[in-house]
Amino acid sequence: MDIAIVGTGYVGLTTGACLASMGHSVRCVDNDAGKIERLRRGDVPIFEVGLDDLVLATQHAGKLCFTANLAEGIRQAEIVFICVGTPTKDDGCVDLSFVEKAIDEIAPFIANSSVVVLKSTVPAGSARMIKARLARHDRYNPVASNPEFLREGSAVSDFFNPDRIIVGADEGAAAQTLSRLYGSFAARGVPVLTTSTVNAELCKYASNAFLALKIGFINEVADLCEQVDGDISEVSACVGHDKRIGGSFLSPGPGFGGSCFPKDARALVALGRRLGANQTLVERLVHSNEQRKKRLAHRILQELDKPSVSTVAILGTAFKAGTDDMREAAALTILPILLERGITIKAHDPQCSHTGAKLLPDVLWRDDPYAAVANADAAVVLTEPDYHSLDLRRVASLMRGDLLFDFRNHLNGDKVLAAGLRHLGIGRPCRLPSAPKGATAGDWRDIAAAPY
Ligand code: UGA
Repeated sequence: MDIAIVGTGYVGLTTGACLASMGHSVRCVDNDAGKIERLRRGDVPIFEVGLDDLVLATQHAGKLCFTANLAEGIRQAEIVFICVGTPTKDDGCVDLSFVEKAIDEIAPFIANSSVVVLKSTVPAGSARMIKARLARHDRYNPVASNPEFLREGSAVSDFFNPDRIIVGADEGAAAQTLSRLYGSFAARGVPVLTTSTVNAELCKYASNAFLALKIGFINEVADLCEQVDGDISEVSACVGHDKRIGGSFLSPGPGFGGSCFPKDARALVALGRRLGANQTLVERLVHSNEQRKKRLAHRILQELDKPSVSTVAILGTAFKAGTDDMREAAALTILPILLERGITIKAHDPQCSHTGAKLLPDVLWRDDPYAAVANADAAVVLTEPDYHSLDLRRVASLMRGDLLFDFRNHLNGDKVLAAGLRHLGIGRPCRLPSAPKGATAGDWRDIAAAPY
């Protein structure tokens, strides 16, 4: 099929490259001419596993091209995907101005038979609003909603292996065109669920909010575990084995972040308030997630003997492993609180140091985790990019102190203890080494009794 994608951000670019690799002819349009030039050279501006190879291969195969010329990009298209950003306004509502602008700009050039498909995450009713907006330009194209469920870091794999595809269509023509597009998925058993545009739009918010609720819930159970000498990993595994609950998104951590969960949860709350259908659970979740990040900063402060003269190493600053994205990352709440108390922070993240240096200029960014932990009183694992392969004895010998906060329960506790470090995870008892860091048999003391 002939496809145009308007907006070459993370969703647009991934969708475009994946559809092109399935044999469709895809033109990605963006009004940022510099970005288009970079993409033409195969220079993918985001870090996403497998995406750059896919962009290069599909460009070479003549299936994917990039243009800043909107008219040229959309004129022939059977489907025009709208993948522009939908940021949050100050009141938590979704700012639809980029979507509206895109619609006004495509209207003069779009073919009568083209189906306009909203992939941007938009509140319920947006597709119908877009339909009305097109009509103001004397355009009566079918409009559909086709939300995406791609996770950063595994977006390409998620595209090809979806749990389901949602086709929101109020008109037969839109439903038929999208059924054709996703025919090969249906043929291999992927459920392609057709519903109204409003239902599809709500489904995206409900899915993200529900997953975020699972995380928020397990985080609170983890807090409880800490009070009763429980172990959240075991509780979570036992709970998740119930098929009605499911084991995924039950890993505790420093609070969820990223460009989607916090923003979409706030948008659902704002929509509910505006329509008199309060989303009280999600409202509490947004609050408790923010509080959690602050509380963990205070937990670090509590454990340090003299915070104002301490050095803390932060390992992993992205909102999750496998990305270079720090939007709404726990690091953005925790690190400023520590900096305010006069703590020196040295941070390492395999992908984020460039972004991090701009967002947190007072942090000393290091290219190597061992350089980050050198002379640190405490080390904090905030994101889990492969730190389990760290040489923990080397870490311990480089550190001045012996506190290792593992806010992703990512490290092997026995190895942490064997290295002589205290292991402070989430939702499990603090574990103490059998001997202090660097101790010999002669100077062993019962550090379990030491106050901290
Ligand atoms: C999320 C959804 O998972 C995708 O389905 C959706 O398409 C996407 O938002 C979107 O709306 O575009 P993403 O934000 O990339 O994807 O990341 P997730 O893997 O969902 O993680 C979100 C946050 O939750 C991260 O901070 C992660 O560390 C945290 N998390 C996740 C946990 O703390 N515990 C878990 O068990 C899972």
